[in-house]
Amino acid sequence: MAQASECIDSRQRTNLRGNDIHPEALESMSSLWGDEPGMGSILSKASQVFILTDENVAPFWLLEVAHWLHCESAVDIVIKAGEEHKNLQTVQRIWKTLMRHHADRNALLINFGGGTVTDLGGFAASTFKRGIRFINVPTTLLAMVDAAIGGKTGIDFGGAKNQIGTFAEAEEVLVTPVFLSTLPRRKILSGMAEMLKYGFVADSNLLEINLENYQEYILRAGEIKREIVKNDPYETGLRKVLNFGHTLGHALESHCLTTGHLLLHGEAVALGMVAALWLSVKQCGLNEKVLRDYEKRLPMLLSEAELHLSEADMEPVLQYLVHDKKNKGEKLQFVLLEAVGKPVWDVTVDHDTVKRSLEYVIANGYGKH
Ligand SMILES: NC(=O)c1ccc[n+]([C@@H]2O[C@H](COP(=O)([O-])OP(=O)(O)OC[C@H]3O[C@@H](n4cnc5c(N)ncnc54)[C@H](O)[C@@H]3O)[C@@H](O)[C@H]2O)c1
Ligand SMILES: [Zn+2]
Repeated sequence: MAQASECIDSRQRTNLRGNDIHPEALESMSSLWGDEPGMGSILSKASQVFILTDENVAPFWLLEVAHWLHCESAVDIVIKAGEEHKNLQTVQRIWKTLMRHHADRNALLINFGGGTVTDLGGFAASTFKRGIRFINVPTTLLAMVDAAIGGKTGIDFGGAKNQIGTFAEAEEVLVTPVFLSTLPRRKILSGMAEMLKYGFVADSNLLEINLENYQEYILRAGEIKREIVKNDPYETGLRKVLNFGHTLGHALESHCLTTGHLLLHGEAVALGMVAALWLSVKQCGLNEKVLRDYEKRLPMLLSEAELHLSEADMEPVLQYLVHDKKNKGEKLQFVLLEAVGKPVWDVTVDHDTVKRSLEYVIANGYGKH
C-alpha cells in the first residue's frame, strides 16, 4: 500500500484491487449537480488531475474510480484514514504534493472518500493558490447525503473540530451506492439516521427507509441538502434545520468521547432526534404518533452501537449542551417540528424541559444495550 500522504505512481494502482465489483458498475454514478456541465467539461479544463483518498478506500476503489473518471494518469494522494488526521499537517502534505507536481491554478482535485477526505480536500483545494477547483466523490453514506454537499470545508485545530475552514462548493458531487458495499454496516446505519433527519424536516418519503431500500433514497437526500444550502448558504436561517437532532446529539457525542464508549455521529443524532421529537410534542404541538413511529425504528438504527448511558451521564451531557457554541448563556435553542416537513428553528427551551427530554431518552433505555 502507498505511504500515507505520498503520491503514488498511477501504474501501481493495478496492485490495489480489493473488491469484486466490475468497473462498469460505477457507471451508475449520478451527479448531484445534474443541471450543470458534467465531468467531461470539468476534466477538459483541468491542467492536471489529482485524486485525494485515504488508505482504507484506496485498496478497494482507487483503481476503479480512476478508470471510470477517465483519470488514469492522475496523481494519487493517499492519506491516513480517520478524523485524527483531519488536521493542518495533512493539509500541508497535500499542498506540498501539489507543489511538487507543479500544480497550477487550473489543476483539479478529486476528493474521493468519506467526510474526512471531502472536508480536508475541499479545504486544501480552496486555499491552494487562492483556490483550485475540486469535485467530491463520496464513499460513505454520511458523505453522500451530507458532508460532500454544501460547501463547508475544514480541519480540526487546537483540539476542537472544524475550527479552521472555508465555504467553497465542489464543482461536482458524484454519487453511487456501489462504494457502500465495502462500508461496515454500523456506518451505514449511522448514515441512515441523517437520512431520517431529512425525512423529518423536509420530505416524509425518507421516513420509509430501511436497510433494504435506503439506497433508492440517497440522491433525494442529497438534493434536499443541496436545496436547503442554496437558499441559505451561510446558515443565517433555514440551513439551521439541518441541525435537527444535533443539539443533544453533539452533546452526547462529546460526552461519549470522554467515557471511551465511542458513539458514531449518526448514532448520537438518532438519540438526539428522540429528544427533539419529544420536545416538539411538548412545545410545538407535534402529533405524538411521529415520536412513537420513530421509536419503533430505533432498535434497528442503534443495533450496532455501543450504548451505556445511565442517569449518571445526565449532568455531564447537560453541561456540554450549555457550553455548545450555538447556545447563548443558559438559553438553549433547538430545531423542533410543528409537523413532519414543518421545522421551526431557534426555539428556546428552558433548562428543566431539556433535562426532562434527556431523562426521557435515558429512562426509555434508548441509551443502553
Ligand atoms: N462539511 C460538512 O458539511 C460535513 C457534514 C457532516 C460531516 N462532516 C465531517 O465528515 C467527517 C465524517 O465523515 P465520515 O463519517 O464519512 O467519516 P470518514 O471519512 O472518516 O470515514 C469513516 C471510515 O470509513 C472508511 N471508509 C470510507 N469509505 C469507505 C468505503 N466505501 N469502504 C470502506 N471503508 C470506507 C474511512 O477510511 C474511515 O476509516 C467528520 O470529520 C465531519 O466533521 C462534514
Ligand atoms: Zn450530522
